[in-house]
Amino acid sequence: MQGSIYTAFSDMVIEQMGMESWNELIDETKPPSQGIYTAGEQYQDSELINMVVLLVEKTGLPIEQLLESFGEFLFDKLYKNSPADLSNIDNLRDFLLAIDSVIHVEVKRLHPQAYLPKFKYIEDRDDQLTLQYFSKRKLCHVSVGLIKGAANKFKQKIQLEHPICMHKGAKYCELVVIFKEG
Ligand code: HEM
Repeated sequence: MQGSIYTAFSDMVIEQMGMESWNELIDETKPPSQGIYTAGEQYQDSELINMVVLLVEKTGLPIEQLLESFGEFLFDKLYKNSPADLSNIDNLRDFLLAIDSVIHVEVKRLHPQAYLPKFKYIEDRDDQLTLQYFSKRKLCHVSVGLIKGAANKFKQKIQLEHPICMHKGAKYCELVVIFKEG
């Protein structure tokens, strides 16, 4: 996974738990990178997984909640540093539709070694949008946090449902974003 994800993760741990906690995570998981990450480089997924597993042990928080909080935190960082021009997107629906066909395409063009998730969309209703998430990494809870971060950015109230999940044996996850008034 790309360094930008790791730098966001280390920022979150340092901001919310302190430098000492970050140093402990590095000491205890001994990542090959030694915890020194550069935005455009690729690092082994296991470095992140080992740190998340240890954080679950240390905080007692459920892994789903930890990954979702990370997704929400990550959103602002990705949005600010997006390689695709997002200035003409002014609403959540258009933004979510742009992830697969614009944003991640541009990430892949700039970083051919990146592995991006695939999203398919069900657009049959005006008041909701369903994202079908496909990825070998099964980071649906990070997606939930990213979607919540995006909703916040576009000041759109949403309800999110996750009726189909890869962690329950499905081939993909279904994330139903219901747009709320107000
Ligand atoms: C400005 C917006 C965004 C940018 C610039 C961006 C960029 C990226 C980058 C660089 C990666 C790492 C890929 C790798 O190293 O292999 C990534 C992964 C990912 N992105 Fe996005 N992304 C954005 C928005 C979103 C949103 C809103 C979602 C949620 C629906 C999303 C879902 C994911 C997930 C879940 C991953 C983890 C990899 C995986 O699932 O296999 N992204 N994205």
